[in-house]
Amino acid sequence: MKKITALLLVAAMLIGAGTVAAWAEKSDPADGIDYLALVNKLNPLPEGWEEALQTVTITNSVGDAVEVEAKAYDAYLALKEALEANEGIYLELDSARRSVAAQQDIMDRFIEKYGADYAAKTVATPGYSEHHTGLALDLYFKLKGEDGSFTDVYYNEDMVQYPRIWEKIHARLADYGFILRYLEGREHITGYGYEPWHIRYVDSADIAKEITEKDITLEEYLSGMKAPAVTIDLGSSANYTEEALMEAVVQIKCQFATWEGCELHSIRYAGDANCTGENLKWLNGISKDGKYTSVAKFLMDFHAPKEQVGAWEADTEYTDYEWWLARSEDSGWEIVTQGYC
Ligand code: DAL
Ligand code: ZN
Repeated sequence: MKKITALLLVAAMLIGAGTVAAWAEKSDPADGIDYLALVNKLNPLPEGWEEALQTVTITNSVGDAVEVEAKAYDAYLALKEALEANEGIYLELDSARRSVAAQQDIMDRFIEKYGADYAAKTVATPGYSEHHTGLALDLYFKLKGEDGSFTDVYYNEDMVQYPRIWEKIHARLADYGFILRYLEGREHITGYGYEPWHIRYVDSADIAKEITEKDITLEEYLSGMKAPAVTIDLGSSANYTEEALMEAVVQIKCQFATWEGCELHSIRYAGDANCTGENLKWLNGISKDGKYTSVAKFLMDFHAPKEQVGAWEADTEYTDYEWWLARSEDSGWEIVTQGYC
């Protein structure tokens, strides 16, 4: 059973979404883990996860210990075997489950080596890494030479030199319940650039195949599950392309997907009249670093759960609920605030 933490929900509603308005879901250890849990920049590791998690620890080819969720490890072994037998590709595990402290170490090392901006784009904030789940696996591989000896291809900058090998690996992931998590060109949705090595176990070949065939992210898959028949009205805009507005809608749907029990009915672009300098100034005032250069407002209709949850009135239709998003020259849309502003 999963429960929403009501206090966090109320707090998130009061604060507004731009301030990482995710509310922690609680896992009951007796139910095991939720293999479709969403952990990303907005959603931390669910509470109670570690008590329910079962892992195995192995040693990889460079002598590092790697801890992995138990079912994900079995699936990984089957994938590895298929790749060795059919493609002559020898997979290895670089990293899987990480504690919050281990993630902090990685973050510190990246900041020191590459600077804070690059670190923020490639390493998750401790507490918000999918690696905490044990379901995210970072792969590397060994190349077999003509004399039968193996060479590890281990560093990111080396691994990206082998796109054809990654293609072959990616083509087999779904059969074993894995997806490629950080797709090329979807940074605005996942929050991270392309990582060919980072795969995610979802415990179902059918779900993994659906996500892969539709070429969508886990965020889009989960928001689609929660809102299968939503009316989207982008109206007409001289400021933004349809594609840009849809990117904003995906952000809203992903955030809405965490509102337990709420039913989404429609999302509408509120029009170019809201793209004013005054609104931009307001949103820059709310954000930490005031970097936004454009603004967009959306309206949503949704229905609150039958039983009262957090600050929602039970069984009530909320109409024209506002979502304010902004973006800068070099970043995608961010939800800055929401509610009846
Ligand atoms: N590299 C991924 C985003 C992480 O640090 O979890
Ligand atoms: Zn990773």
